[in-house]
Amino acid sequence: TAASSRLKPRVTLSRSTKKLINEALMNNDFLKRLEAQHLREMVDCMYERVYAAEQLVIQEGEPGNFLYVLADGLLEVIQNAKLLGQMRPGTAFGELAILYNCRRTATVKAVTQSVIWALDRQTFQSIMMRSTQARQEEY
Ligand code: CMP
Repeated sequence: TAASSRLKPRVTLSRSTKKLINEALMNNDFLKRLEAQHLREMVDCMYERVYAAEQLVIQEGEPGNFLYVLADGLLEVIQNAKLLGQMRPGTAFGELAILYNCRRTATVKAVTQSVIWALDRQTFQSIMMRSTQARQEEY
């Protein structure tokens, strides 16, 4: 099915990359509330993107279709032209628009060339739904 093909990992992640992504998801205040099994499945469905310095990863006010984890590089978070802070490797972001169907709350921009792992909204939803279905079948 389309859903199961989307759940197949695009590449085999190294153990250290998986660990970095999983820890980033578990350290995020919002994502840490999800089931550990859901988070593990998400790690396997992420794929890598490289952003050049100055490139925008997220633009404030736009709809959002990806959840991200910074693996290497440096990002800055900007809201209403004001610098809110910086993000270092091992940080998950872009979770708010994915979890709450809201517009992007801030702009995220690459300061240096950055390696970022991304998970698309459909795959996120497939993982959450598939696990729920599997649980319902148990009872
Ligand atoms: P989202 O709103 O989807 O897209 C922008 C992301 O920036 C947001 O999810 C958070 O992950 C992150 N973000 C928003 N506000 C802050 C903040 N004050 N400090 C750090 N990160 C933030």
